Amino acid sequence: MSIFKCVEHCYKPLNLFIIMIISFCDLIWFMVSLLRLKNSTHHFSLSWLAKQRMRMCFKLLTYGYCSLIIFQSLPARVIVYIYKLDVVDGPRQISSEPEYKHFDERFDMLRGKVIIVTGANSGIGKATTVELLRRQGRVIMACRDRERAEKAAQEIKQEAGPEQGELVIKLLDLASLRSVRRFCEEIIKEEPRIDVLINNAGIYQCPYTITEDGFELQFAVNHLGHFLLTSLLLDLLKRSAPSRIIVVSSKLYKYGDINFDDLNSEQSYDKAFAYARSKLANLLFTLELSHKLEETGVTVNALTPGIVRTNLGRHIHIPLLVKPLFNLASRAFFKSPEEGAQTSIFLACSPDVEGVLGKYFSNCQEEQLLAKATDEEVAKKLWDISEVMVGITT
Ligand SMILES: NC(=O)c1ccc[n+]([C@@H]2O[C@H](COP(=O)([O-])OP(=O)(O)OC[C@H]3O[C@@H](n4cnc5c(N)ncnc54)[C@H](OP(=O)(O)O)[C@@H]3O)[C@@H](O)[C@H]2O)c1
Repeated sequence: MSIFKCVEHCYKPLNLFIIMIISFCDLIWFMVSLLRLKNSTHHFSLSWLAKQRMRMCFKLLTYGYCSLIIFQSLPARVIVYIYKLDVVDGPRQISSEPEYKHFDERFDMLRGKVIIVTGANSGIGKATTVELLRRQGRVIMACRDRERAEKAAQEIKQEAGPEQGELVIKLLDLASLRSVRRFCEEIIKEEPRIDVLINNAGIYQCPYTITEDGFELQFAVNHLGHFLLTSLLLDLLKRSAPSRIIVVSSKLYKYGDINFDDLNSEQSYDKAFAYARSKLANLLFTLELSHKLEETGVTVNALTPGIVRTNLGRHIHIPLLVKPLFNLASRAFFKSPEEGAQTSIFLACSPDVEGVLGKYFSNCQEEQLLAKATDEEVAKKLWDISEVMVGITT
């Protein structure tokens, strides 16, 4: 028997075993969720949860099925491809348009332009920075840890090629309002203009943590920190018009709700819900800001990058046995950081979105939002409360 055949034989039972374990864990998780739901104040309905679990089981079975046959036949690869298009990325047009547009010559070069990218040392922010530097912009990496930022800056410069722009590191901890204010003071003092602000940094499903300002960490970093940052830089952005603000949100906003009576999750904390809520807050922030920016020459748009292989899941515990399957699945189904960065790059450089305001993009195309993300009343109320929380007086 050839080595390949031998590996193939071991591969099947091992995979079946892993799939059985995952399905079992998934079932347990589902039961626990149902029990927890009884005491929860969240607005998840039972039917919604059941639907999610069914989808998850279906996905796991399909992953398993695909991983069993992926190395063996061409039809299996086709199944994986269709599955990826249909389920993971959402229905997407298959056309002659290039899927990833960063080599699109119509995109503007950025010589003489100043771009701020928050969370530029990792994942999508890092890949975005490489491309903006390649386009010769002056890119400011707004990062919370100097050592990590310097290491990333070296790699970014190497990847950006010979005729690159200028790369600057500035410290910014979005979990601290003091740090955000200090960062903005420095920028306003040192930079004559800002052409693009990319609110990219984010944290996902961390354990319950309260920041030095007394806010729940995911809400603080993903929403409040960026809210204060944008507010303090708004005058400079207006003076630099035409300029752009880009907000990196997520499809998971669908599972969030703005529960004004417990924005700090003091009554109950569900880490998945808190992330979804912070990403919904990103979209409501974009909506309200788009009204305030009419006729100013500054635009603001939001995006979802899709499911991307980055460090975002650092707080998610994956059991050792399941890790190999997870890594395999993520390689097969998730986008690379470069792929995940395409919509940010598109919104930063493309002439197609000049003057476009208050929209939501996915795969470089406009997408419709659920009603909860276009509710004007909630957006206005969230804006007013956020101003109070970060201490802005107007
Ligand atoms: N990956 C996905 O599948 C996915 C899907 C939908 C939306 N998104 C969104 O995409 C954005 C980028 O995430 P990613 O996937 O690229 O994850 P990532 O690799 O973990 O990058 C997140 C970045 O945010 C920074 N950050 C975290 N907390 C911060 C703080 N308090 N102050 C300043 N910076 C902070 C991180 O800095 P450190 O390295 O120092 O921690 C890192 O540079 C996030 O907004 C995320 O919600 C991602």
